[in-house]
Amino acid sequence: MEKHEEIIKNLSSIRDYARWSMGRFTQSNVYYGHGTDNAWDEAISLIFHLLHLPPDADERVLDSNLTHNERRLILRLVDARCQDKIPVAYLTNEAWFAGLPFTVDERVLIPRSPIAELIESQFEPWAQTPIKSVLDIGTGSGCIGLACAIHLEAKTDLADISPDALEIARQNVARHQLASRVRLIQSDLLESITECYDLIVSNPPYVDAADLASMPAEYHHEPRLGLEAGSDGLDCAKVILAQSAGHLNDNGLLILEVGNSDLALEAAFSDVPFTWVEFSRGGHGVCVFTKAELEQYF
Ligand SMILES: C[S@@+](CC[C@H](N)C(=O)[O-])C[C@H]1O[C@@H](n2cnc3c(N)ncnc32)[C@H](O)[C@@H]1O
Repeated sequence: MEKHEEIIKNLSSIRDYARWSMGRFTQSNVYYGHGTDNAWDEAISLIFHLLHLPPDADERVLDSNLTHNERRLILRLVDARCQDKIPVAYLTNEAWFAGLPFTVDERVLIPRSPIAELIESQFEPWAQTPIKSVLDIGTGSGCIGLACAIHLEAKTDLADISPDALEIARQNVARHQLASRVRLIQSDLLESITECYDLIVSNPPYVDAADLASMPAEYHHEPRLGLEAGSDGLDCAKVILAQSAGHLNDNGLLILEVGNSDLALEAAFSDVPFTWVEFSRGGHGVCVFTKAELEQYF
């Protein structure tokens, strides 16, 4: 590997460092699964964060020169990304979701659910009436519930079994100044939930045993509690499907993500006509149920 001082002497612009980082990522076989899917976006997300630039900053900034300190910092974090396979969001302690920044660390999963797209479109075409109350089960950083609270202007409860995750969610409630209409609830799925909502949304753990055993190194930095869900990946999903109707208002909706366990879910409930969401920005394995459908099938 080239010595840092040599690189710092020869490379000067953001574009230079993005190009160099791309090469290092490719050489080190880093895995892209935490918000980006290619070396360029990975490099840009790391560098822009360090420079306090918004993720969608104008491309003209790429030709500006970096200070000596900025160069050193980029090289140090690229080394950590490549050698220790630490996802960028854990290096920067920030992840963007539904156009909003969230604080993250290794106590919570890195936000990447395709549900962001549904939130930004106010759950159209499924929401028949304005959504005024939301429960986010397995909230982690709080990203899904807080994005709902902001985009829908809804009262929101964030539930998680993990006190560690709820601590990060609490920091994000404060960061977005939402304490007046967002509550944190420690709950094993719906066990401690007492109210009814217009929307229950959940990205619970859904990784099955086979996927868990073959996950790239990056995923081992994430809390296992946020991923693991039994041999077929459905341990949490089955409980949520069975219990959500009892916590939904009459026009209420359940939005449930099961990712790669979608086929296992269909096989487990072969007489249920699943509605799977199609996403324009990518992602799969998110199903939608009305309260009436949940009552009929689960
Ligand atoms: C896949 S992560 C999703 C985090 C966040 N919603 C997101 O989309 O980034 C699942 C979350 O569910 C939580 N969890 C795991 N088992 C749970 C349970 N039995 N009850 C409630 N939350 C649980 C984990 O602590 C983790 O924060």
